[in-house]
Amino acid sequence: MNEIIEFIKKTPKAELHLHIEGTLEPSFLFKLAKKNKIQIPFKSINEIKSAYNFTNLQSFLDIYYQGANVLINEEDFFDLTWSYLLKCKNDNVVHTEIFFDPQTHTDRGIKFDTVVNGIHKALSKAKKELGISSEIIMCFLRHLDEDAAFKTLDQGLRHKDKIIGVGLDSSEIGHPPKKFERVFQKAIESGFLTVAHAGEEAPSKYIWEALNLLKVKRIDHGVQCLNDEKLVKKLSDEQIPLTVCPISNVKLGVFKKLEEHNLKKMLSKDLMIMINSDDPAYFGAYVNKNLIESQIALNLSKKEIKKLIINSFKSSFLLESKKKEWIRKI
Ligand code: ADE
Ligand code: ZN
Repeated sequence: MNEIIEFIKKTPKAELHLHIEGTLEPSFLFKLAKKNKIQIPFKSINEIKSAYNFTNLQSFLDIYYQGANVLINEEDFFDLTWSYLLKCKNDNVVHTEIFFDPQTHTDRGIKFDTVVNGIHKALSKAKKELGISSEIIMCFLRHLDEDAAFKTLDQGLRHKDKIIGVGLDSSEIGHPPKKFERVFQKAIESGFLTVAHAGEEAPSKYIWEALNLLKVKRIDHGVQCLNDEKLVKKLSDEQIPLTVCPISNVKLGVFKKLEEHNLKKMLSKDLMIMINSDDPAYFGAYVNKNLIESQIALNLSKKEIKKLIINSFKSSFLLESKKKEWIRKI
């Protein structure tokens, strides 16, 4: 086998952009719908799969939120998370920082505690049994209002022992980071780290706002930054991480094909990027597949792949000593 592909598979790596609801595989969705007696507009697993044909972010989100309706009990969130962790084991992901969207569940009557406890129990088991470390980041849905985000923040504060930070996701265009400036300020004052999706579909202005107003430690996606020289300089000078998700970007029409993705160019500008899967069950690719397909499409060198993997640890919320330990092994 190609030496670089072998290197990708066997090297320990971190994942920093992963929505746990986006790991709901069609077969599990179908099973849960039956178990929990939730009506879904699909008669078979194959029908679910053929609905996964997206044109942009919103067309994906509509299906993704519908899918999440089958998650009801703590054990559902546990099983969902555990299945993802087994994929991590398979891909040699040794550290993962996962997003969850509390409002997707609380808005349909599921308790915040049910969601976070199910996820957290699976992560604790993975630490013991699989040697995988992790963090949890709760995201506010940006299409909802500031009040709803404040309520969610208060719920999250009761689980501060399990949640390291807050993020911002969902429909980007028309919902700029500025809308959540006060929520993020309170989150920071409460001791949460902050990240935000910005520059996935929307222009670089959203990235500036995430940095200046939300004081984020990382930008999720950020691929629209290359149109803005001043921003590229800042991101490069300060080595602000951008959690790039190449196959997601192609599936949602941000780039027509992987060969046109700008991640190689981002690397050449010395940007702190790494490769992530975003919503792997919906896009058909976990981390290794994202790395392998990007390597092939963009002819990435072993040195570039190594940099991407090292960056995944550098950009993580791991302790500095732990980062160094992993990087030494690469
Ligand atoms: N929620 C899940 N995946 C997302 C993405 N790629 N962008 C914004 N919100 C999301
Ligand atoms: Zn995302």
